[in-house]
Amino acid sequence: MATGTNSRDLAVPDGEFPFTWADFRQIAELVHSEAGIVLTETKVNLVYSRLAKRLRAIGLRTFREYCALIQGESGIDERQAMIAAMTTNVTRFFRESHHFDYLRSRVLPGLLEGARKGGKVRIWSAGCSSGEEAYSIALTILELEPGAADLDVRILASDIDPEMLRRGSTGIYAVRQMGDIPQELRRKWFTIVPGSGGAELEVSEDMHELVRFRELNLLREWPMRGKFDIIFCRNVMIYFDDETQNTVWGRFAGILHPGGTLCIGHSERISVGGHPYDLVGQTIYRRQGA
Ligand SMILES: C[S@@+](CC[C@H](N)C(=O)[O-])C[C@H]1O[C@@H](n2cnc3c(N)ncnc32)[C@H](O)[C@@H]1O
Repeated sequence: MATGTNSRDLAVPDGEFPFTWADFRQIAELVHSEAGIVLTETKVNLVYSRLAKRLRAIGLRTFREYCALIQGESGIDERQAMIAAMTTNVTRFFRESHHFDYLRSRVLPGLLEGARKGGKVRIWSAGCSSGEEAYSIALTILELEPGAADLDVRILASDIDPEMLRRGSTGIYAVRQMGDIPQELRRKWFTIVPGSGGAELEVSEDMHELVRFRELNLLREWPMRGKFDIIFCRNVMIYFDDETQNTVWGRFAGILHPGGTLCIGHSERISVGGHPYDLVGQTIYRRQGA
């Protein structure tokens, strides 16, 4: 136990590394201010187990030392690693498939018609994790317009976690993660990764071309200049407090074209009274003003 640490202060009594409630609070405050993610005391064991790996990796012996590191000027890289360790990256292809059905039948036909006449289509997968959401949108587009990569159609896939973005930009996925992609689409739009014995598939050049991965913290400045036709921000806000959620829903309204579409996660909700959206489907909103 660290010098001066009373066993009553310990948040995780039998851990390999001493972890006090004061350490927990410092970490929770930093994760909240940096990434908007709320860590209540019920998450104490999760915080311990995810960050114990970081302590081991960098050779520290106590969470007190770890807190000193992440609070200090030299701790920028470790702060980022800590945020990445605390994010939940669960995702899959065609998750909440009704959103893709809605795009296919109601939104994309008109947008692609405009793109064929020289217009542009901009889509944002905000909090894209390892890219399955953005590539599912790309697949939906390519099924409607196989030549989409040659049109001015682009999907921005952004996340706070650089490791997830790195994975997404490889475009390589294990076949066992692809259960939600119909066989026919797999054959058409993916190639077998050489040497993987068929266990891994890579997205086609056209899918690569449609999707651009960028690091972006939703709480900070957004560098994009143009507006979007569609935003997917699903299963990201559930980790944020109400005030942060409200701010981000408002900022999405500012960067969506009038009539643009916003798809959110199944357990998320926007109070439309306070924001310029109409609810047009299950967790699907349309920006007012078209
Ligand atoms: C559960 S995943 C959701 C992935 C995908 N949207 C889906 O629904 O399948 C949540 C993602 O949000 C990202 N995230 C969390 N806080 C963020 C923030 N402040 N800015 C940007 N991305 C953030 C995490 O890194 C994680 O990859």
